Amino acid sequence: MAQPQTVWGGIYSETQAFRGEKVADTMCSGCHGAGLAGGDSGPKLVGDDFLSAWNATSVGDLYGYILEKMPHDAPGTLKPEDVVSVTAYILSVNNMPSGRQALPTEPEALSQITILAAKP
Ligand code: HEC
Repeated sequence: MAQPQTVWGGIYSETQAFRGEKVADTMCSGCHGAGLAGGDSGPKLVGDDFLSAWNATSVGDLYGYILEKMPHDAPGTLKPEDVVSVTAYILSVNNMPSGRQALPTEPEALSQITILAAKP
């Protein structure tokens, strides 16, 4: 039986997070701040408060939230592949390790990966 995957298992690639950083710089930082560390018009997407809000949900849940609700002033305008990249970037700024595999682009596969605030 396959081991359950968590965000601590190296489930996104460095390249993908780098691509996501470009997306974040243009589409998210205006509200969420540089490095998504918090801005005047958006909460920080880094650190304990953010992680405890998403603890025990899945990467698919986070992906779905961003796809449907962000950017807050123009929801639903992001391309799914950009949302996957920006999700990888969010994991990277939260010190989750990158790995050899890129984050999958299928929502069902993303929903198999659990977000855990603390490293198990
Ligand atoms: C116009 C400002 C704005 C932009 C641009 C924006 N956001 Fe947000 N974002 C917000 C606000 C405000 C909230 C809080 C929403 C709420 O509580 O309903 C939020 C909430 C979030 C959350 C949930 C935070 C939590 O603590 O649970 C995530 C994840 C997120 N945004 C990701 C993104 C990403 C990724 C982008 C870029 C693609 C983006 N946002 C662009 C304003 C923005």
